[in-house]
Amino acid sequence: TSKLIETDVLVVGSGPAGATSAALLGMYGVKHILITKYGWLADTPRAHITNQRAMEVLRDLGLEEKAVAQAVPQHLMANNVFCESLAGEEFGRLYSWGNHPSRKADYDLASPTRICDLPQNYLEPILIEAAGQRGTALRFNTEFLDLVQDADGVTATVKDRLSGESYQIRAKYLIGADGGRSRVAEVIGLPMEGQMGRAGSMNIIVQADLSKYVAHRPSVLYWVLQPGAQIGGIGAGLIRMVRPWNEWLIIWGYDIEHGERKLSNDEAISIVRNLVGDETLDVKVTSTSTWTVNEMYAGRYSSGRVFCAGDAVHRHPPTNGLGSNTSIQDAYNLCWKLKLVLEGHAAPSLLESYSAERQPVGEQIVTRANKSIGDFPPIFEAVGLLASTDPAEARKAIAARKASTTEGKARRKKLYDAIANKSYEFNCHGVEMNQRYGSTAVVSDGTPMPAFTRDHELYYQATTWPGAHLPHVWVEHQGQRKSTLDLAGKGRFTLLTGIGGDGWRTAAAAVEKAYGLPVDVVTIGPQGCDALDIYADWYRQSEVDEDGCVLVRPDMYVAWRAKNAVANAADLLTEVFGRILGRG
Ligand code: FDA
Repeated sequence: TSKLIETDVLVVGSGPAGATSAALLGMYGVKHILITKYGWLADTPRAHITNQRAMEVLRDLGLEEKAVAQAVPQHLMANNVFCESLAGEEFGRLYSWGNHPSRKADYDLASPTRICDLPQNYLEPILIEAAGQRGTALRFNTEFLDLVQDADGVTATVKDRLSGESYQIRAKYLIGADGGRSRVAEVIGLPMEGQMGRAGSMNIIVQADLSKYVAHRPSVLYWVLQPGAQIGGIGAGLIRMVRPWNEWLIIWGYDIEHGERKLSNDEAISIVRNLVGDETLDVKVTSTSTWTVNEMYAGRYSSGRVFCAGDAVHRHPPTNGLGSNTSIQDAYNLCWKLKLVLEGHAAPSLLESYSAERQPVGEQIVTRANKSIGDFPPIFEAVGLLASTDPAEARKAIAARKASTTEGKARRKKLYDAIANKSYEFNCHGVEMNQRYGSTAVVSDGTPMPAFTRDHELYYQATTWPGAHLPHVWVEHQGQRKSTLDLAGKGRFTLLTGIGGDGWRTAAAAVEKAYGLPVDVVTIGPQGCDALDIYADWYRQSEVDEDGCVLVRPDMYVAWRAKNAVANAADLLTEVFGRILGRG
C-alpha cells in the first residue's frame, strides 16, 4: 500500500486562479500541492487584458517585469475600432484602456503598474515557473474527482490520467480553482445563480499578417459590424490581437438554438477573410473551438475547508476583460488568510471573510460583463445594420447615415453616443479598481464609506477608508523610487504612520507580543522617516494626520486606520487585530 499524501493546501487547477494561488502560497512558505487535469497549461490565448489590480499582484510576487516583457504595452491597446471589415468602412473608434489623454492620468495616478495585454498562455507559465521555484509540488495529468471533509481536513480523490489509477490526497484546506465547469464547486454544493449557455461563440486562432490594416490604428480589439454579426456571441464579430500584428483570435457568434457549430478549415478561413474584408488574405488556422456566453455566479464561495476561486464561482463573457483579473484577485484575497490560519496566527473564522469580500465582486463583474454585450445593439442600430437582413438593403441604410438629412444627422449623433458609451467596457477603470470590502477582516474607524464623486464604474476613487485598497503614491525609500504599495504586501501586515506616530510602533510591538504576529511599521514623511514623502502626495492622500496610522493587510487593502495618535494605541491596535484574526 502506498503512503497517504499529506499537505496543508491542495490547489485544484493551474489557470490564473490556481497558478496565482500556488505562486502566493510558495512566497508565503505554505506547504501545498497543485494538481491540474492536463499535461500542460493553457494552450490558447484566452484571457488577455491584464488590469492594474492584477499587475499589482504580479508586482508583489516579484513577477511584474517578466509579465511586462511578454505583454503588449498599454499604448498599443489605444483604440477600439468599429468597422464593417478591416479593409472596409470604419464607423468609429474609441480611445481605450486609459489611452485617451484625458483618461491617461487617471490610470497613471492609480497604480505603480500599467494595464497591458498578456494572453493567458503567456501568463500561466510565468506564474507556474515562480510557483515551482518557490516550493509548489506540481502534479500535471491529475484530475480532481471527489472530496470528503471532516473537522480536521479534506480528503480528495484524484486520478492519475497517465496510469488511470485513483489515489487520495489529504489536505487541511482545498482551493477549487478548476474553472467554469468546476467539479469542486459542484461537490461542495455552492449555490449558483444565473444561466449558462446564453449564446454561442466560435474562436478561430490564426496566423495572418494584418499590419497594413491595423498598424496605424493600434488596438487589441477590432469589432466587425456586418449583417448577422449580432447573432449569438458577444454582440459583434471580433478580430482580437494576440501578437502584433500577425497572430489573431477571431470570434464569431452562432445561433445556440441550432446546437453546437462544427467548423471546417475552409469555413474558418472564409469567416476570417470576410471579417478582414480581404478575399485573398493569406491565413493559417491554428485551431478552432466553440464556447458559450455565461451569466452565472456563486452566492457563496466556500463550504467548510474548501474555497472556490476564479471561473468556478463567476462565469461570464470576456467583455470588460475581467475573468483572469478577478481570478487573480480572488487568490490574492484568500492565500494570506490561509497562511495566517495555518500558522496559528488567526482563527479559522478569518477564512469566512473570503466569501464575504469576494462574492459581491464576482456578482458585480458577471453583471457588468453581460450588460456590456447589451451595449452593442445601439451601435448596430445607428449604423443601420438592423434596418434589413438583406445585404443590399443594409448597405443602403448604412449609406443613409452619411446623408445630409435630418435623419442622417440624428443617426450620426446616435452612433457617436453609442460608441462613447462603450467606455463602460473599455475604460471601466472604476469597475477594475474600486472594490471596497466589508467583513470581519476590516475594522471600521467609525466613518461612513466615502461617496463616489464621479461615475463609480468609469472612475477610480482612492481612499484609505477601511475596506478600500491602499492608495498608490510615489515615495522615496532607501534611495529608490517606490510606490506606497511596495512598502506593504509580501504576506505581511504593514502599519503606515508619520511624524508623531511613535506610539504606533509601540502598539505594533504589543500586537506581536499578544498574537505572535509581526507587524511592519513604516513611517512616511520628511528626511528621517523610513520613506520620504518627496511630493507630499501621501500627506494629501492619506486622509489621516501625520501622527495617525493606516493599517494595510497583506493584500493591500486597508484593515483599519486612526486619524491621530491616541494614548491607548497599544490596547486599541491589539483589539483591532483581535477582531481581524478572530482572537479578540
Ligand atoms: P481556468 O479555466 O483558467 O482554469 C481551470 C484549471 O482547472 C485548468 O488548469 C484546468 O485544466 C483545471 N481543471 C479543470 N477541471 C479539473 C479537474 N477536475 N481536476 C483538475 N484540474 C482541473 N477570457 C477573456 O477575458 N477573454 C477571452 O478571449 C477568453 N477566451 C477563453 C477561451 C477559452 C477556450 C476558455 C476556456 C476561457 C476563455 N476566457 C477568456 C475566460 C478566461 O480564460 C477565464 O476567465 C480565466 O481563465 C479563469 O481562470 P480560472 O483560473 O478560474 O480558470
